[in-house]
Amino acid sequence: MAKFIIRGGNQLSGTLEVKGSKNAVLPILCATLLAEGEYILHNVPNLRDIETMNKVLQALGITVEKIDNHSYKIINDGVKSVEAPHEFVSIMRASFLVMGPLLASQKEARVSLPGGCAIGARPVNYHLEGFKKLGAKITMDHGYVGAKASKLVGTEINLPFPSVGATENIVMASVLAEGKTVIKNVAKEPEITDLCNFLNKMGSKITGLDTDTLEVEGVKELHACEHKIIPDRLEAGTFIIMSAITGGKIRVDGADLNHLSGFLEKLEEIGVKVNQYGEIKVGELKPVDIVTEPYPGFPTDLQAQTMVLLSMVDGKSTVHETVFENRFMHIMELNRLGCNIDAHGQVATILGKVNLCGAKVEATDIRAGASLILASVIAENTTEINEIKYIERGYEDLENRLKAVGVDIVRVE
Ligand code: EPZ
Repeated sequence: MAKFIIRGGNQLSGTLEVKGSKNAVLPILCATLLAEGEYILHNVPNLRDIETMNKVLQALGITVEKIDNHSYKIINDGVKSVEAPHEFVSIMRASFLVMGPLLASQKEARVSLPGGCAIGARPVNYHLEGFKKLGAKITMDHGYVGAKASKLVGTEINLPFPSVGATENIVMASVLAEGKTVIKNVAKEPEITDLCNFLNKMGSKITGLDTDTLEVEGVKELHACEHKIIPDRLEAGTFIIMSAITGGKIRVDGADLNHLSGFLEKLEEIGVKVNQYGEIKVGELKPVDIVTEPYPGFPTDLQAQTMVLLSMVDGKSTVHETVFENRFMHIMELNRLGCNIDAHGQVATILGKVNLCGAKVEATDIRAGASLILASVIAENTTEINEIKYIERGYEDLENRLKAVGVDIVRVE
């Protein structure tokens, strides 16, 4: 298994360029199932998850061609299968996002039910309820979810929770439905807006972007288009913290700071400021209380990384995780590096300021792994991070990019 060996303590400086958003491109790749034609996608990050999604599309009969380091041509000359194989869904839950577009364009879909993962059970009941309300018949057999509809008819759907995946799947299922679909209590993450912009470029009629309610006027047919993926706010947030804990000499370039308002407000409260050029200024650091929330609140995907920053602050901070039921797997690993974090239920208490010292640790999920990298960069001696396959799902070519700003990092197979 691949691992990172990182020797901490180096003075870091330079610029880290933010790549395209993993969580924007994954649903957009699924949307190419909605219409035949040749799509061009720019600013696509080179990540394991993208490779997996491309394999899912190829299994459905779509051709995926890389045209340069971060651009792809996607050719849909007819969907050949409506079944997403278990082998791909089991390694990447986002594969479940093919269900909505397959239902819309093929009136049928069969997708392996995603299992849970380290951060929680992560059911898909909201997705399936939405499909049923649009007129689909849902079946379950041998661990696969089947969906069939003679036609899909627009309706009103109220999401019990602003689920990112459910919002994306239901929007993609509704764009070719008869009549109007009103979806209430939707997720408002920038990745949803990027997907809706992409769908509207394809000829969809979606309004209410960036609000709690999306309205989708069903259309008869859609067409291919060209699109540039938005920057990855979660990679940007991770790098901003790396800069803040190492003296602020790393500039983070290419982020859309409007996508990080909830995070940046909390960072200012801690004593870290980020200007429009991505330059980071570190003042006197203060402990804070954080509650993770759906966008535009403090993102659950940055709480693990922020715990490393809070470990460098004198005093007691807390993080209340409200989105996932089990997203504290990184705490035990961070404590092995010298952090002093205690979790009771959904609330973690972080005591600082601590000195970190290298150790052997293991990544349990993508953002937990990112937090271990942040801690190892400031820990004395050497840290060995195992299971980096999780990290490489969401961060492109970290070894070379971090080396370029002075991190002593080696990737070992
Ligand atoms: C997306 O996951 C992201 N993944 C996650 O990022 C992110 O953490 C999450 O949204 C929250 O922002 C992608 O976009 C590919 P949800 P998703 O549906 O869609 C419950 C990363 O780090 N729920 O908003 O799976 C669910 O259990 C990944 O890149 C149901 O109960 O998240 C969870 O507690 C990790 N039933 C909560 O809602 C459902 O049908 C939020 O889940 C759907 C969700």
